Amino acid sequence: MTTDTAAQAAYVVAALLFILSLAGLSQHKTSRSGVVWGIAGMVVALTATVGLASRSITASGLVLIVVATALGAGIGLWRARVVEMTGMPELIAIMHSLVGLAAAFVGWNGYLDVDAELSGSLLGIHHAEVFIGVFIGAVTFTGSVVAYLKLSARINSRPLTLPGKHVLNIAALVAFVGLTVAFVVRPGMGLLIAVTVIALALGAHLVASIGGGDMPVVVSMLNSYSGWAAAASGFLLANNLLIVTGALVGSSGAYLSYIMCKAMNRSFISVIAGGFGTPAASADDDEQGEHREINAEETAELLGNATSVIITPGYGMAVAQAQYPVAELARKLRDRGVEVRFGIHPVAGRLPGHMNVLLAEANVPYDIVLEMDEINDDFAATSVVLVIGANDTVNPAATDNPSSPIAGMPVLHVWEAANVIVFKRSMAAGYAGVQNPLFFRENTQMLFGDARQRVEDILRGLDSLDAPVPEMAGTSR
Ligand code: TAP
Repeated sequence: MTTDTAAQAAYVVAALLFILSLAGLSQHKTSRSGVVWGIAGMVVALTATVGLASRSITASGLVLIVVATALGAGIGLWRARVVEMTGMPELIAIMHSLVGLAAAFVGWNGYLDVDAELSGSLLGIHHAEVFIGVFIGAVTFTGSVVAYLKLSARINSRPLTLPGKHVLNIAALVAFVGLTVAFVVRPGMGLLIAVTVIALALGAHLVASIGGGDMPVVVSMLNSYSGWAAAASGFLLANNLLIVTGALVGSSGAYLSYIMCKAMNRSFISVIAGGFGTPAASADDDEQGEHREINAEETAELLGNATSVIITPGYGMAVAQAQYPVAELARKLRDRGVEVRFGIHPVAGRLPGHMNVLLAEANVPYDIVLEMDEINDDFAATSVVLVIGANDTVNPAATDNPSSPIAGMPVLHVWEAANVIVFKRSMAAGYAGVQNPLFFRENTQMLFGDARQRVEDILRGLDSLDAPVPEMAGTSR
């Protein structure tokens, strides 16, 4: 068997392992094995690629490849070990930026180092591949860098609203099509520089125009773009595995974006066009009125007298690492005969399933953890809702205020309960940068401070309560 045949056979095995990996990652209980399949596929793919490359490069070139692979693997292992759960989306975003950058470099290399055997229409196709690869790669690169900056709070998460922003995006796309035709007819470095600059600006603008509340969809869309960028590199390098893997990542990312758009009531097309960011100024920023405060002892008393409690956790619970005392609180209340359930918004926190993972870590029973659609009708019959570090996901402006940047996004209807206690440290807005009218409603009280400390205070307050009173308290609204 020749090296080439062996490498192609290894590529088929790697592609199958990647498909198994995607299948495993689609469910919680098989996700660990999905990761293992993925690692195995990547080991097979890298070994086969280095084996193939070793035929045509010098010994020092091979050493460089091995050193680069070891260095990359070392950095990857280190980042994966030290990253906090709340930092995962920004890590993913910066990884996507590297895929985009690599694709743009491969495209440039394809222009500078054209295979001498190519001629006629094949050369035209090659130049089209170069141009498209550079374009997708550069859009993915800057789009992902801006997503990283927004997700890590290094820049404001509010949407950028340049005048005529849609016209700018369309002009960039039209210029790309025109330049591609010109480049295929008469390739030149000036055209390639022009498309690189346009794509870099377009990627940054597309993501900057999108508000914080819509970032989950943007991250999965960039995941998809990075896959297409890798597939474009695969065509240029004539590497079948890169084409297959890129297409797998591209299509699965696009499908995930579609599912997330449906869950968040957003238009798929407008995500691709960077179109659903809305003006930063809105009625939400206006003065909302007075808020009321409550302390931990009073909250403990209210909970001790409640018949039903729903806990809606959000990003702040993850920041405070409050899941353990929250789980203890749920257990204590259930021991007192209070019905306790958790209501989980699909994009609560900073990554899909974030809250489910934290609650599972703290051994909260699965059967009391309900999805938004399963629990949204039950708030009206609930004595007390504890909003622990959630904000955008419980914002009534999404349903009441059509001019709000998060208008139309499905939210947990916590305000329908008799009493709502909001745990946070200040009156600051949520991730989308939108003020929350919930905080000013008559049945809402703010419990300020770090969520973990406040829940621990409540646990102490519950301990000092004499005896459980099984009647519902404070039903007036
Ligand atoms: P957010 O809207 O992010 O609000 C979290 C709240 O937690 C903040 O208002 C903050 O208020 C409070 N907080 C922070 N640290 C705290 C602490 N130590 N103790 C108590 N409170 C604390 O939360 P959410 O409701 O979970 O919404 C998630 C948002 O992130 C959505 O806009 C979503 O679109 C976006 N997003 C989600 C994902 C995924 S896939 N889940 C990915 C990217 C973005 P203070 O500062 O006043 O304490």
